[in-house]
Amino acid sequence: MSKTYWVETYGCQMNLSDGELMEGVLASGGYTQVSRPEDADVILVNTCAIREHAEQRVLGRVAELNRVKRARPGTLIGVCGCMAQRLGARLIERAEHVDMVIGPDAYRSLPQLIDQAAQNGGGVVDIELRSSENYEGLELRRRSQVSAWIPIQRGCDYRCTFCIVPRTRGSEKNRVPEAVLREIEELAGEGITEFVLLGQTVNSYRYDDWDFPRLLRAVARLPAVRRVRFTSPHPNDLTRELVDAMAEEDAVCPQMHLPVQSGSDRVLKRMARRYTREEYIGKVSMLREAIPNIALSTDIIVGFPGEDERDFESTLDLVRAVRYDDAFTFRYSPREGTPSTRMQEDWCVPEHVAQGRLERLIALVREIAAEKNLAEVGNLVEVLVEKRARRGELLQARTDRYKVVLIPGLQEWIGRYMKVALTGTSGATFTGFPVES
Ligand code: 5AD
Repeated sequence: MSKTYWVETYGCQMNLSDGELMEGVLASGGYTQVSRPEDADVILVNTCAIREHAEQRVLGRVAELNRVKRARPGTLIGVCGCMAQRLGARLIERAEHVDMVIGPDAYRSLPQLIDQAAQNGGGVVDIELRSSENYEGLELRRRSQVSAWIPIQRGCDYRCTFCIVPRTRGSEKNRVPEAVLREIEELAGEGITEFVLLGQTVNSYRYDDWDFPRLLRAVARLPAVRRVRFTSPHPNDLTRELVDAMAEEDAVCPQMHLPVQSGSDRVLKRMARRYTREEYIGKVSMLREAIPNIALSTDIIVGFPGEDERDFESTLDLVRAVRYDDAFTFRYSPREGTPSTRMQEDWCVPEHVAQGRLERLIALVREIAAEKNLAEVGNLVEVLVEKRARRGELLQARTDRYKVVLIPGLQEWIGRYMKVALTGTSGATFTGFPVES
């Protein structure tokens, strides 16, 4: 009988994609997937280290999995991904039932690491950052038959002072463009029509004389590709050439997630974001001139060390000026070893102040998003049907602008493009009804 695995993933889209990679490596190594951790010989938890809260959640979950292991001795538990990379062997000291700690650059050898843990009764740690690991030739086990994540870049060469990612993922590595294009063509041959190019600062992609706009155009021109998205771009690498590629290539979706982090120049400077508020707003104007209907979302941190009320007002002001379709908002979380932790002693924002700001920011973001979405009710849009919705009999579909639309329909519509009328909105998502096209 073959050995069995269970993989669960926390965190960003890159991590979700890594989850598919881990499953692919295990499947190639002769493992079969089971539908619950209780039945698995190997349980891998693919983790996120971006904020303290994310790590606490994982530690809670790993403690829960210890019960599974006690009920089924011999089960191996591995903690993988960014938290593994950050904590290394300290994780095993904190949670003795963890058998393996495996960083992102070691996934190719998962089967060997598991064998090693089985032989030695745990204690396996591989958190080497390998500049030579290019992730090529690994079969991913993809969850969706409709849309595919394509990592084109790993690691990060920016050094934002709040961010742990350069430590957990290493420096920027870009994939060979021909390998990216070949992979997409193969998936298109299997019927997938939407592709999401992934990278920590995806638009800083560069390989020989290929840059990101060139790669994006090449992907968009592959015959079976109907939609291309990418995430997340860094504002500094948002060039006229990229905007032109987006505007000119029909398959590139009119949508962008463009993290701003703060609307205050003082704070942006201390975050080492390397742009000013005006420069960011200038990029947004450039995008909107070329692609008037573009949907924009962002990430914002409140309570960064030294952020005062005026800085925060500048952030609110920027949100009012840009009018985002959506925003992910976070309270600053100090990450050990990042430069911002050294600013904290002088300038720590009290927790209740940061929490108050977060709540005010969320209220503003929601108000604007709801206003914008309400104005779209009644429109006819094309959606790609993705999957069965979590609740009820509805299907979940998405517009090219990345808006979620719930529609009544049949299982066999999954993967199809359809015309729907937007009939209502919760403020964040839509309901819709299919119409004849
Ligand atoms: N504290 C709070 N939020 C953070 N992010 C990254 N690091 C931190 C941190 N230390 C947020 C940023 C980033 C998103 C993925 O997570 O907004 O864009």
